[in-house]
Amino acid sequence: MSKILVLYYSSYGHVEIMARAQAEGAARIPGVQVSVKRVPELMSLEAATAAGYKLDQPAPIADPEELADYDAILFGTPTRFGNMASQMRNFLDRTGPLWARGALVGKIGSTFCCTASQHGGQETTLTSFHTTLLHHGMIVVGLPYTFKDLMTLREVTGGTPYGASSITGTGSEARMPSALELDMCRFQGEHVARIAAQFTAGGSHA
Ligand SMILES: Cc1cc2nc3c(=O)[nH]c(=O)nc-3n(C[C@H](O)[C@H](O)[C@H](O)COP(=O)(O)O)c2cc1C
Repeated sequence: MSKILVLYYSSYGHVEIMARAQAEGAARIPGVQVSVKRVPELMSLEAATAAGYKLDQPAPIADPEELADYDAILFGTPTRFGNMASQMRNFLDRTGPLWARGALVGKIGSTFCCTASQHGGQETTLTSFHTTLLHHGMIVVGLPYTFKDLMTLREVTGGTPYGASSITGTGSEARMPSALELDMCRFQGEHVARIAAQFTAGGSHA
């Protein structure tokens, strides 16, 4: 059995919904055990409330040490100035002890994100995230073009070969992740879980 973790941060609920879709996709693979967890909030309750953050998120808070227990980890973050959110960065910066003993070497890592605007830095968020995964010796998996709607022009949508993404818009154009964006999350989750199951069947990394 392979164990998959969907680990996310979300201020306003977009990445939270994407994380659930990733988990749904991963659960399509027989024999896979999927968990959804989030990283801790760094803002004070007062500041987060004032900023309108979605505070009722049922996913439990992860501890950095537990990443070693999974065969594959799907990381989800909102984009902040073209990079991952500081809450996710801070969590990753607490994985030094895992790095020191090579605890994530040979595990699968994959990323997804959300931006406000179409060209607001999805690719930079995802590919810069990969750098950290590679330092950990993880095997980076993206979102292949066998998800045919990566090429679509029929609607405004997120979607990159580096990982699933969604666009929130703003004001009167604000939206939650679209059906298409959630489909691509499910596709990515299933893709990662299938690879993890193949790895588990073939023997774990030495
Ligand atoms: C400080 C800050 C920086 C942001 N930087 C970007 C950005 O560089 N590009 C962009 O398109 N959206 C940016 N956004 C919008 C967020 O990416 C968007 O609110 C987020 O993806 C929504 O996801 P969530 O609901 O899971 O928090 C930024 C938001 C904040 C608060």
